[in-house]
Amino acid sequence: MDLGLKDKTVIVTGGGSNIGRAITLTFGEEGANVLIVDIDEENGRKVEKLVQDKGGQAKFVKADVTKYAEAERVVKEALAAFGSVDVLVNNVGWDDFYPFLEIPPEKYDKYLDLNLRHVLYFTRAVLPHMVEKKSGSIVNISSDAGRVGEFRESIYSAAKGGVITFTKNIAREFGRFGIRCNCICPGATVPPEEETSGQSMFRQEEVKKLFPPEVQEKLAKSAYPLRRLGKAQDIANMVVFVASDRCSWVTGQTISVSGGYTMF
Ligand SMILES: NC(=O)c1ccc[n+]([C@@H]2O[C@H](COP(=O)([O-])OP(=O)(O)OC[C@H]3O[C@@H](n4cnc5c(N)ncnc54)[C@H](O)[C@@H]3O)[C@@H](O)[C@H]2O)c1
Repeated sequence: MDLGLKDKTVIVTGGGSNIGRAITLTFGEEGANVLIVDIDEENGRKVEKLVQDKGGQAKFVKADVTKYAEAERVVKEALAAFGSVDVLVNNVGWDDFYPFLEIPPEKYDKYLDLNLRHVLYFTRAVLPHMVEKKSGSIVNISSDAGRVGEFRESIYSAAKGGVITFTKNIAREFGRFGIRCNCICPGATVPPEEETSGQSMFRQEEVKKLFPPEVQEKLAKSAYPLRRLGKAQDIANMVVFVASDRCSWVTGQTISVSGGYTMF
């Protein structure tokens, strides 16, 4: 199936690691121009080169997505480089897995900035352009934790639940301009270390301790009907499909890609 993404321009936040990396590479394979936004220059550049080595168009932009001015700058750079923005994938996210009472309140902003606020910022920065051209597709990466809650992920889940609701609001308000907004909820997708950025949540020692291979295997068998955890490519396939015009009558939806972990 031709997804019709050739020469479309796509912004992917957090494109240097794991799921964002797979999303970027898959858009590249579809012939899209991909703008990779990441705070980690080394890994962002690696992904940029991977796309280019396969004959695709990619441009890395170093930015901190938690600052609104950076979102505006990224959109300007995308327009200067490629002339249009057709798809925005808000993919950056972060967690470190602690029980609620062990998270000091002064740390709440970090979860909210990286999981929710940056989605508001990038959406705000890109929408005037999409409204003007009366088309666009926004895909937000939430989490199954945002649908059903999760042990050790209280603030993260609250932020991801916010992403789901925000997605519906944008879909309702901007559908009249031909703009679609959907939300993808991955299940546990633990990457090989070489596919992560230095800033990846999976590089944190406390997270590595929580997910050793034997725990991953147990989790897959006990909680996932398809009896395996996710691969970044599983998520990327759905993101690229939903972003494409093949889904032109799909908006405001929350779609789990999680081997049946949650069912709605
Ligand atoms: N991997 C999973 O198990 C899983 C499960 C459910 C949902 N998700 C969601 O999927 C998305 C991707 O997850 P992942 O596992 O690939 O994450 P990851 O931690 O491996 O990658 C996140 C990327 O964001 C970048 N980043 C971090 N802070 C940034 C900042 N301030 N500005 C710009 N870039 C920044 C990092 O450098 C990294 O490249 C996230 O939204 C996450 O919450 C992941």
